[in-house]
Amino acid sequence: GSGGGGDRSSALAGPPVLENSVQKIDVNPPKGTRDFPPEEMRLRNWLFHNFREVSRLTGFEEVDYPVLESEALFIRKAGEEIRDQLYCFEDRGNRRVALRPELTPSLARLVIQKGKSLSLPLKWFAIGQCWRYERMTRGRRREHYQWNMDIIGVPEVTAEAELISSIVNSRKVLQEILRSYSISENLFAKVCVIIDKIEKIPIDEIKKELKSVGMPQEAVNELLEVLSVKSLSELEEILGGAGEAIAELKQLFSLAEKFGYSEWIQFDASVVRGLAYYTGIVFEGFDRAGKLRAICGGGRYDRLLSTFGGDDLPACGFGFGDAVIIELLKEKGILPELVPQIENIVCALDHDLQGAAATVATMLREKGQSVDLVLESKPLKWVFKRAARINAQRLILVGNTEWKKGMVSVKILSSGEQSEIKLDDAGTDRLQNQMS
Ligand code: HAM
Repeated sequence: GSGGGGDRSSALAGPPVLENSVQKIDVNPPKGTRDFPPEEMRLRNWLFHNFREVSRLTGFEEVDYPVLESEALFIRKAGEEIRDQLYCFEDRGNRRVALRPELTPSLARLVIQKGKSLSLPLKWFAIGQCWRYERMTRGRRREHYQWNMDIIGVPEVTAEAELISSIVNSRKVLQEILRSYSISENLFAKVCVIIDKIEKIPIDEIKKELKSVGMPQEAVNELLEVLSVKSLSELEEILGGAGEAIAELKQLFSLAEKFGYSEWIQFDASVVRGLAYYTGIVFEGFDRAGKLRAICGGGRYDRLLSTFGGDDLPACGFGFGDAVIIELLKEKGILPELVPQIENIVCALDHDLQGAAATVATMLREKGQSVDLVLESKPLKWVFKRAARINAQRLILVGNTEWKKGMVSVKILSSGEQSEIKLDDAGTDRLQNQMS
């Protein structure tokens, strides 16, 4: 089942029951999804570690939500792309559910649920898997992990300033244009969703769509002119000075200087974003060459909570995917070389000594040392090769003569230095110190 409803009855019928039959399976994961074999998982852990580290430095607390949510949480009326990309189905209890395509609605749900018990402002971060039935392109897949940072309860632009290090614009600019043509406020979300497609479909199509939702020709023209603006002063000229949008953006850029990232941000009026709930400043991060899709994106969404029946709270945040950033770092050759690292490899030299080797492994593990225990009788050559592959620092051999004296042979693999060690408390402590 992909997005958009699909055939429900077949989903409910469950998989066919196979009796006494062997069915060769496709060894690839479903289209658009990934496995994480150890080398990929090391990379993912490294990336998440960095996400967590930034979140820790900024004093955010980690949260999470279920991957499966009720479908209603993601249905908005603005004609968003994300709606058509929903993985949704009816569960066995006839509830309409969906795999989450993003985390923000779940955040809103939890904030409403906790209500007054929360002390504002909240600074929350989450790293979670999201599902979107997308057309696959480079850096776009059907599942991705998204790091989110959100601040709830701060109406001031200081919140954005803390969250941003990317390209900036404000939806309020559009709002002001629409207002000047007396276009109704509820067209706003639709217009934003159309503009978000500006680089994906021809400009004539965009014009047509804008007109079809009810924008007069002149308004369309002014809008498109404003969208091409790349500096705040230019925008100020076109819009004729003041206005809330310009004032906020100016404050943001001045804060950016204080934060020390002003060289990394640029005003871009064409950034409006494809999600309907944004109400103010929005921002996206790109590589400087501008070849890939957005690395991250976010903005202010002060009115999302009331769409779920809660009381609105000022809110802003961003989502940062795992796919584009890895592509980019790979291309630039700045991904770290990550290798497996296990401190000890322990091997019995005789099949009868498997138990003894297990005891040695346990003693080391109780001291907090990682141990790869060789579980079968293997030639020494094999053991050395494995030790090299897992980057073991020490090879510990359990042989008959030594073991009778409660000793093992220890080889430091980097230097080749070899010794015999008695494995009492002092002995394991000595091993430990050797490592640190
Ligand atoms: P979004 O722009 O839809 O915003 O997604 C945020 C980021 O998630 C994107 O910039 C990209 O890095 C990543 N991403 C999205 N879709 C895919 C995909 N199909 N494959 C790979 N990566 C993807 C949101 O989702 C908002 N909820 C962000 C937010 C949080 N706004 C306020 N708070």
